[in-house]
Amino acid sequence: MNDLENLSLSRDGNILVVTINRESKLNALSLATLSELKQVIQSVYDDREIRGVILTGAGEKAFVAGADISEFRSLNEMNARKFSEDGQEIFALIENCHTPVIAVVSGYALGGGSELALACHMRIATRSAKFGQPEVNLGILPGYGGTQRLTYLIGRGRAMEYMMSAAMIDAEKAEKWGLVNHVTEDKSAAMEKALDLLRTIGQKAPIAVELVVDCVNAAFAKEGDGYQTEANAFARCCGTEDFAEGVSAFLEKRQANFKGV
Ligand code: COA
Repeated sequence: MNDLENLSLSRDGNILVVTINRESKLNALSLATLSELKQVIQSVYDDREIRGVILTGAGEKAFVAGADISEFRSLNEMNARKFSEDGQEIFALIENCHTPVIAVVSGYALGGGSELALACHMRIATRSAKFGQPEVNLGILPGYGGTQRLTYLIGRGRAMEYMMSAAMIDAEKAEKWGLVNHVTEDKSAAMEKALDLLRTIGQKAPIAVELVVDCVNAAFAKEGDGYQTEANAFARCCGTEDFAEGVSAFLEKRQANFKGV
């Protein structure tokens, strides 16, 4: 991997922690940051040792305060579609990743930052977290998949009001709306919760976990039959050694030793 200037990576066992590291700009997503994020997520696809990813922002004040507005002056009707599609592609890589990706959100998750958190499989937020889609304040709308993922996640009426009004919501409301999975007191508790969750998932059969991602995402796909995806995934699991191991371990009253095959 090329040297990273805007992200920092660390490992906790087989869990990768990716930190967006532009604290002085509230971790705003510059194009360079997005390109590094793409590179890192692609590397996760190639590394079967990684059994979970935490995505967070440096510091406590912001997860990500949006796309980098200082780069917006060059946007026009000709190039903005590609800008949007490129971002959508990177966020789809996260959404479709075989291993669970959790966003740990402290402080602001605004615009592209909120959309980035939505593309992750799960979200854990601190009590100080604030979510918002303030794009209409700038004369635009969410362009990294937010209009779609938000509507699926919180429903049409709330999504309309949230994106049209640009109002920020706090962690409590985000939890009530199903936008976040858990709310913790502070960032270290949120990191601990995410690590605990990923360690728990890491003990499960990897192929089954991977196929849960495919099946859940199929529920949101415009085309295809999610029930068929589920049946295919179920059949695939039943052909794995881990299925035989899981069933034997239960019947023999012992811990399963999954190998991901
Ligand atoms: N893009 C680029 N820079 C950003 C940014 C963004 N989305 N969000 C914050 N920053 C920068 C600020 O310009 C400032 O940089 P500077 O110190 O060089 O001037 C720095 O981060 C700190 O932000 P600041 O606005 O001074 O902090 P604050 O506590 O007063 O306000 C926010 C925090 C989040 C309310 C405010 O920064 C904000 O509204 N940001 C933009 C949010 C947004 O519209 N996002 C969607 C973009 S599509």
